[in-house]
Amino acid sequence: MKDDSKSIETRQVHSGTIKDQFGSVVTPIYQTSTFAFENVDDGAYKFKHKGEGYFYTRVSNPTIKDLEDAVTSLEEGYGGISTSSGMSAVNLVFWTFLRPGDHVVCGDSVYGPTLSVLSTFFKEFGIETSFVDATQLAEVQSAIRENTKLIYIETPANPTMAITDIEGVARIAGQQNILLAVDNTFCSPYLQKPLRLGADIVLHSMTKFINGHADVVSGIVIAKERSIFGPLMAKKNLLGLNMDPHQAFLVRRGLKTLSVRVERAQENALKIAQFLEQHPKIDKVSYPGLKSHPQYEIAKRQMKGPGALMSFELKGGLEAGKTLMNNMKIAALAVSLGGIETLIQHPATMTHSGLPRQQRLYSGITDGLVRYSVGIEGANDLIEDLANALEKV
Ligand SMILES: Cc1ncc(COP(=O)(O)O)c(C=O)c1O
Repeated sequence: MKDDSKSIETRQVHSGTIKDQFGSVVTPIYQTSTFAFENVDDGAYKFKHKGEGYFYTRVSNPTIKDLEDAVTSLEEGYGGISTSSGMSAVNLVFWTFLRPGDHVVCGDSVYGPTLSVLSTFFKEFGIETSFVDATQLAEVQSAIRENTKLIYIETPANPTMAITDIEGVARIAGQQNILLAVDNTFCSPYLQKPLRLGADIVLHSMTKFINGHADVVSGIVIAKERSIFGPLMAKKNLLGLNMDPHQAFLVRRGLKTLSVRVERAQENALKIAQFLEQHPKIDKVSYPGLKSHPQYEIAKRQMKGPGALMSFELKGGLEAGKTLMNNMKIAALAVSLGGIETLIQHPATMTHSGLPRQQRLYSGITDGLVRYSVGIEGANDLIEDLANALEKV
């Protein structure tokens, strides 16, 4: 179905689905590495007009294309390129648009490995990055240099839940012809549309909400325009960052229930955040659905809902946080997020442990910060789980 006028709930189910000769309702898994040509001219044509027909799965495959078209439709972009992981999506953006001597402005609270890849790996290739508090537009503006090629933000940010005004940053980027890339993993296209708000590129770890079942690692980059899509596709092919057809099939299946899962988890999250905020052992809760969140108004404006993620700190700091995490019975003590299961983790020793402590603190990741990804279990059970663990603190 190609009708982009339909609701997101309809498109998440039907967009991209391939009609085969048997009338399969679901796009089949084309588990093949290569595709036979009808004759030499057919092969030559397909090599010349990449994107029309299939010849090799590293370049494209019907099952993978089906998923790319569906997510692109939800993000309202020109074209999508799926990748083996969220990190390969992040790296694809950097490899495609950055050259030695270029400069990047990056939000200072982004996924740990994204921060590491810019501050170590790309630095070694002569690409400098200024990490700024992207919630402050003036900081973004003043970090721009003559050689700035890319502004990269994540909103809500992992794990601080800081919200960046996408339209505000897009204005700054647009004035200077700088590309704006937004990691939309924490929201999914159901809650936030960065391309509509002025971004040029949106990317996801589809390991999270888009797949939603904690059983696949995958990523995607969606370009707003053809001129951005072409170079991304070419680099993906050369770097071999493609996903596998079976992986694509599973993610496509997960995507079909995106809105239902996000709505349900978000409903739980609001109740939990309200419970935590009034609990005497909790110092601070960061959740965009609470009026106490510093960017509550921006979140309300640019997100359809506050989502299913939050972070919080206990009054007893790190030791209290550890006791809480070690005593959770329903929430699994595990990294990742955006699945139907509730997960709890400790950024300072887990997802963001690769960063020096000073850098973590600068980004608002204190030693006692706990990240909580809310699933679709019963809200009362999750609250009871937290209440029992807090008793032990
Ligand atoms: C916001 C964000 N971006 C990117 C990634 C990387 O994704 P993956 O683990 O699928 O490589 C993650 C992983 O947690 C993430 O949270």
